[in-house]
Amino acid sequence: MTFPKGFLWGGATAANQSEGAYLTDGKGLSTADVMTASSATKERINTRTVKEGLLYPSHVAVDHYGHFKEDIALFAEMGFKAYRMSINWTRIFPNGDDETANEAGLKHYDAVFDECRKYGIEPVVTISHYETPLALVDKYESWLNRKTVDFFVKYCETLFNRYKGKVKYWLTFNEINCMSIMPWLAGGIVNTDEQSLMQAAYHQFVASAKAVELGHQIDPNFEIGMMYGGLFSYPNSCDPDDIRANTEFTNKMLFYCDVMCRGYYPASKLKEFERDNIQILKEHGDDEILRKGTVDFIGFSYYFTLVVGKNSNLAFDHGSVNTGYTNAFLPKSDWGATIDPQGLRYALNTLYDRYQKPLMIEENGYGAVDKVEEDGSIHDPYRIDYLREHIKEMKKAVEIDGIPVIGYTTWGCIDIISAGTGEMKKRYGFIYVDADDEGNGTFARSRKDSFFWYKKVIESNGEDLD
Ligand code: BG6
Repeated sequence: MTFPKGFLWGGATAANQSEGAYLTDGKGLSTADVMTASSATKERINTRTVKEGLLYPSHVAVDHYGHFKEDIALFAEMGFKAYRMSINWTRIFPNGDDETANEAGLKHYDAVFDECRKYGIEPVVTISHYETPLALVDKYESWLNRKTVDFFVKYCETLFNRYKGKVKYWLTFNEINCMSIMPWLAGGIVNTDEQSLMQAAYHQFVASAKAVELGHQIDPNFEIGMMYGGLFSYPNSCDPDDIRANTEFTNKMLFYCDVMCRGYYPASKLKEFERDNIQILKEHGDDEILRKGTVDFIGFSYYFTLVVGKNSNLAFDHGSVNTGYTNAFLPKSDWGATIDPQGLRYALNTLYDRYQKPLMIEENGYGAVDKVEEDGSIHDPYRIDYLREHIKEMKKAVEIDGIPVIGYTTWGCIDIISAGTGEMKKRYGFIYVDADDEGNGTFARSRKDSFFWYKKVIESNGEDLD
């Protein structure tokens, strides 16, 4: 068998994209709650407050808050060994700077973890997945302010003490490198100048490092990882200028992993700061905090690859990342993402060569429009094909390249709203949810063909992929 016993097969969601119940049981508003719905041709708008008459997908999402028992039972039916999910910070600290935690919020996640444990499912918990308490943005400018480090660490301490024994795997920030391309999602940052982004990222690094150290003190069994938003790229050609541009892009993105895995900034970044006159405000003792708080493993998402060259122009448009170049060798999804299973093996090798840490694929999946047949069945061979080919490449990385992969959790194992566009119709799930882009529907759950396929994959520990 290629995959070790105990390999963490499963699926992943994020609170703001699945839970809904956006003000239930004392929850406060988060940065995700003021993002409107959009489509592949229209951007999501950040309205900064909730405005009447506008549609905010996170407010209802797929009501995982109300359906979590049913949803976890379906995950268990597929044989999940792990469920990657996130805790909504504003359920625990509605304003981010509250004196005491909200007991109703804490109880909710107790119930979620108990439900997972009932079926032997290991929760893999993202502490902050694309949502920051809105009050922290309004009062402190969010991660631009050092105080947010303390608020976050207090939040982590609360979670670690409450859930030790129930949760072992933690991820501090979802796709932390997205600070460089989607700062509002990544940390409630409105400014887009490099000085602000790098200061906000610095505060997240310090916060994560402090959380890692604290977590290990609270429970030495904790495995605390980082989560890298998989932006992997090929050079446009063998023109040395294209190669250099691609290396620079890679370094710019992987710099986030450099700091969190090695505990210090790479020399090239420090030189870049010097050249661009970027001054990071630090506190005495920070260097040691970063050094001591390196992560135990690297989690990352992988959907597509990019092409980068000397004329690249990195942009985030209508829910997808592009560089201005296309890859003629690869097909694309309806939302413009290249389909590149081999790129996953390349990604695993890149990360392991550079850091030698265990790797967990936290997200991988195919967003598509699904059709419900008259008899209620949903045939999604395109999703099965996508996942099968990616699993084959992950297998090669383990079997041939010797990479220690500890888990694979597909994205949106149950249909949820899209982060990029807020749409419901961009579905990734094995489980269909009857809801549309306007938030209407019965919210009934049903099994797609891929549900039965993934069940077989897990049952055979990745051996039966047909
Ligand atoms: C990842 C995010 O980047 O991509 C998820 O961590 C997100 O939150 C996923 O949902 C897929 O992107 P989208 O835009 O299709 O939802």
